Amino acid sequence: MERVIIRGVGSYLPDCVLSNTDLESMVDTTHEWIVTRTGIESRRICLDTEMASDLGYEAARKALENAHIATCDIDLIIVATMTPDMQFPATACIIQKKLGCSDIPCFDIGAACSGFIYAMDVGRNFLLSNPAMKNVLLIGTEKISSILDWEDRSTCILFGDGAGAVVLSRNWDNSDAGIWDILIGADGRCASMLHCSGWGASVPVTVENVEQRKYFIRMEGREVFKEAIKRMCVVVEDILLRNHLTVEDIACVIPHQANIRIITAIGERLGIPQEKMFVNLQHKGNTSAASIPIAIDEALKMGRIHTGDLILLVAFGAGMTWGASLIRWK
Ligand code: UT7
Repeated sequence: MERVIIRGVGSYLPDCVLSNTDLESMVDTTHEWIVTRTGIESRRICLDTEMASDLGYEAARKALENAHIATCDIDLIIVATMTPDMQFPATACIIQKKLGCSDIPCFDIGAACSGFIYAMDVGRNFLLSNPAMKNVLLIGTEKISSILDWEDRSTCILFGDGAGAVVLSRNWDNSDAGIWDILIGADGRCASMLHCSGWGASVPVTVENVEQRKYFIRMEGREVFKEAIKRMCVVVEDILLRNHLTVEDIACVIPHQANIRIITAIGERLGIPQEKMFVNLQHKGNTSAASIPIAIDEALKMGRIHTGDLILLVAFGAGMTWGASLIRWK
């Protein structure tokens, strides 16, 4: 059976660290509240001059190096982001220019924090359906600091900037390594729970809209919290069931890094020991579409993923969107 493998992984974070103590001087919050309610201690924030494409480019370079392939060997670039450099062209095209690999197709995917798993499904299907394609570059990159309301303590403490990338290739050696399955879904009825209405055609640029702070993230935290746990548990159960697996078969779960309480709750409900749940949100916060590829890169570097392991990625985000991916590591 032909499968697609993750051939290389890379990530990149901006240098600037914003600690909870720094936030104490910006909004009415405390380090203790943030750590207790979210698990986050600090996050990285871009400089004004740093864009999602800059972070994505750096992560992509590292993933290509790790995959031992040259930029001229990439056949397609897909970028998952909710903070593109501009409305158009796609951030994927801007990264293509930075990498210097013109003519190949490039596009962005908008599925918020689930974007990377959506991109993985699309990239995998391109490879499986088009024999001319050998390597697909997937990038999750976010400059979320640019759409945060730094006066809203319920959201500005949660997010961070960063990027992660993977190279997908066909499995040449005929082993069972590779992406076994991907399951994605969405429920548009929950769209208003987590949104940023500015920047879209429904909110024209007027002084009034700017004054009403419509260019920033708005979230019903408690509702999103409950929905996240429910949806991620269901998608994990579904993908395991349709592959005739149980949680015992999984060596490492890499969940979207939004809140330690969400990750703990999923582990408890599904009977997954916490030591199998990978967590790195302490010093990154929620990096949205970048969170899963950054976590894969870090889990590999920490020796949490080994050849032959079955790993499970699971995400949820605005939309609401969700997704899970089951991978036998190469
Ligand atoms: O990937 C994107 C998806 N987003 C998420 O996954 C986020 C999901 N939601 C959450 O993680 C949590 O709902 C939050 C961390 C955002 C909030 O935690 P919570 O335990 O749900 O708190 P809450 O919203 O119920 O607020 C509890 C209290 C409120 O005060 P009152 O009304 O009880 O007096 C808030 O005003 O905490 C207050 N509060 C804060 N206090 C200090 C909210 N934010 C802060 C803050 N510092 N930063």
